Amino acid sequence: MKFSLLALATLAITALANNSGGGGSGGGAPSSGGYCPDCKIQGVNNVTTKFLKGNCKWAHKTDKKDPNFLINLSKGQNPPLLWIGCSDSRVPETVITNSRPGDIFVHRNIANMVPLTDDNSLAVLDYAVLHVGVSDVVVVGHTKCGGATAAYNAVHPPATPAEPVTDDPSVESHLTSWLAPLIALTKALPGNATIEDVVEHNVAAQVDNVVQSPIVQNAWKQGKDVRVHGWVYDLETGLLHDLGLTRTKADCTD
Ligand SMILES: *[C@@H]1O[C@H](CO)[C@@H](O)[C@H](O)[C@H]1NC(C)=O
Ligand SMILES: *[C@@H]1O[C@H](CO)[C@@H](O)[C@H](O)[C@H]1NC(C)=O
Ligand SMILES: *[C@@H]1O[C@H](CO)[C@@H](O)[C@H](O)[C@H]1NC(C)=O
Ligand SMILES: *[C@@H]1O[C@H](CO)[C@@H](O)[C@H](O)[C@H]1NC(C)=O
Ligand SMILES: [Zn+2]
Repeated sequence: MKFSLLALATLAITALANNSGGGGSGGGAPSSGGYCPDCKIQGVNNVTTKFLKGNCKWAHKTDKKDPNFLINLSKGQNPPLLWIGCSDSRVPETVITNSRPGDIFVHRNIANMVPLTDDNSLAVLDYAVLHVGVSDVVVVGHTKCGGATAAYNAVHPPATPAEPVTDDPSVESHLTSWLAPLIALTKALPGNATIEDVVEHNVAAQVDNVVQSPIVQNAWKQGKDVRVHGWVYDLETGLLHDLGLTRTKADCTD
């Protein structure tokens, strides 16, 4: 993370420093939005080209608007928030909270889970709480979550089941085992529970996991007032809803 921010800042400086000689459109300083159409960036296909050009445009726009921003950021980070969200492309935390690089420490996975046996999410929680020093941790579910829908369908098979994407169960074993706790949670809900109920109960279960983790328990024992919250993002309105699950040092169990 640090490395990629540093690399990005370095790229931006290099590109700016060298632009007058290599811009290709008569030289001179880059004009707003005018640099990228000329920039020679070419990905190996139209998908990578689109994103590399978009990055080029963003880096120049950002640097032009606030010349110290990227350099300043390259020196360190001090985000107040750890966001534990879903991998879904429609829930990009920095965009939907009107934030900037450096504002949010992030972990995203299928269905925003924090299993207490998962090194990946717990390493992020450990680093964010004990090293970066975030003051707030938020677990964020979202409506129409594919993970919650898969768990729901596993418990309430639809009349016309989806075609399997592969005949080889070992191919999807990671997905199946990742979703197992969510399927168990769904089975424990009343029969009339909806997919959105699964989403909300899952956020509550993951808030519990964060709170019960030795990381948060130790932070609280050390007097760090880390707060843990649970939110749901509504894809249709673009709004975040606080589920009122906030836990603080006062909830320390010992
Ligand atoms: C500009 O480009 C040259 C190569 O053309 C490179 O050697 C140099 O390091 C670049 N300038 C900066 C500031 O990075
Ligand atoms: C890339 O090209 C293909 C085929 O022309 C097209 O279907 C696709 O939408 C393009 N993707 C992007 C990101 O431009
Ligand atoms: C530079 O970063 C510090 C935190 O590291 C921040 O407080 C300050 O506002 C930043 N300045 C600019 C110009 O972005
Ligand atoms: C689900 O069923 C229970 C009774 O089993 C009932 O109390 C509850 O209101 C129902 N919920 C919904 C959303 O229909
Ligand atoms: Zn999702």
